[in-house]
Amino acid sequence: MTTFPHGFLWGGATAANQLEGGWQEDGRGPSIADALPGGPERFAIAASPDFDWSLVPDATYPNHLGIDHYHRFKEDIALFAEMGFKCYRFSVAWSRIFPQGDESTPNEAGLKFYDDLIDECLKFDIQPVITISHYELPLHLAKAYNGWRNKALIGFYERFARTVIERYGDRVKYFLTFNEINSAAHFPVMSQGLIPATGANDKRNVFQAWHNQFVASAKAVQLAHAFDPTIQVGCMIIYATSYAYDANPVNQLANLQHNQDFNFFCADVQVRGAYPRYTHRYLAENGVSEADLDRTEAELALLKAGTVDFISFSYYMSSAVEVTGAVKDTVAGNLMGGVKNPFLQASDWGWQIDPTGLRIALNELSDRYQKPLFVVENGLGAKDVVEPDGRIFDPYRIDYLRAHIEAIAGALRDGVPVMGYTPWGCIDLVSASTGQMSKRYGFIYVDLDDAGHGTLARSRKQSFAWYQRVIASKGTLLDDDVMY
Ligand code: BG6
Repeated sequence: MTTFPHGFLWGGATAANQLEGGWQEDGRGPSIADALPGGPERFAIAASPDFDWSLVPDATYPNHLGIDHYHRFKEDIALFAEMGFKCYRFSVAWSRIFPQGDESTPNEAGLKFYDDLIDECLKFDIQPVITISHYELPLHLAKAYNGWRNKALIGFYERFARTVIERYGDRVKYFLTFNEINSAAHFPVMSQGLIPATGANDKRNVFQAWHNQFVASAKAVQLAHAFDPTIQVGCMIIYATSYAYDANPVNQLANLQHNQDFNFFCADVQVRGAYPRYTHRYLAENGVSEADLDRTEAELALLKAGTVDFISFSYYMSSAVEVTGAVKDTVAGNLMGGVKNPFLQASDWGWQIDPTGLRIALNELSDRYQKPLFVVENGLGAKDVVEPDGRIFDPYRIDYLRAHIEAIAGALRDGVPVMGYTPWGCIDLVSASTGQMSKRYGFIYVDLDDAGHGTLARSRKQSFAWYQRVIASKGTLLDDDVMY
């Protein structure tokens, strides 16, 4: 049994676009998430050649309402406090602060909302952890500037980050610059605001957009440290532990390169401050040469000067690499699928559940970077059933989370410095990939269905009582024999 360290940041994580709603209130502008229709086809629609960010009359747009957290955040924070949260990871909706993204003056009403949210957290000794940009680029920046491929966005982001850090930095000590920055390898729509019509299918644009984001991230780190040297800024990546399918050296090499290209590339730049040695190979395999990219000496120096303090990552699943074509069985996953790993079960959405992979991830990241690590997303998207008496039993979610907490405990025993754990969607919210409400992650149930019908009432699931005891016992009481 491992007692988690004093100061370990137990909490939960959300993103503005997936729970706030109030999409047109108090001066907020539209974001790219507002233009994604609901339903399992939303990513396929956004990746189709004729998608142009326009809203169409017969579609639903679940991010417009979210779970109405904009009006109910006090009730939600009180529930987080009741669970004993030490921190709460949320994002600041860029278009609430700069509705179009390219204005020079921020929207005071938007700033005020986060003042109130932060103060509400602090009232309960919950430390805010802010993601500066989480899949919610102002729509205008995607439409008028073609998203992150345009260097103008560095300046707009810098202004946004400066505004956020200077306004909240007296009360907030943890910032993450970009959510899952490496996700652009598979789906640059949400993290770079690139769609096929504006170059999502041209890898040169994706690499240029990444470079622009790396520079913007480095500037944010510098701004935060200049404002208050005790502020810690992290990068944020998707980490999907990857195994070679078998001992075939061909698969082993492919897996090694997959790890470099997907799991490590962005973090290598943000943590070490320079492009890694395999960049040339990675670019070339994507038909891009270093000369194709617009990277100035001043920008490269900035990358060195603005390295992050810690690495945060999401971990939901692992993947397996098989390149000979011998294995035909495939599975879906968090933005990327792959071959089926015969040792693992998958969630109802096909994501392969692998708690041991989290212990491996923590060891791999720690070995590579020697920096503190923060698990800022983890969880099981599942369908919940409300019993006639209103209770929601979710032993499957408890099983998933328990196994992953045990994996973190294992990594702590391995000597890995883990700062905290914020399970994803601590309150049910709109799924990023499918726009569904029925893909639920929360400890708190929200009465809202995929069509947007429901009372929005909140209720505690079985896992709520369980997580409350996990936190109170510093991670030592993990059984589900809690009163509910
Ligand atoms: C992460 C994202 O990839 O996974 C979140 O940072 C997202 O925004 C989460 O919600 C879970 O994915 P999904 O598609 O089930 O909502």
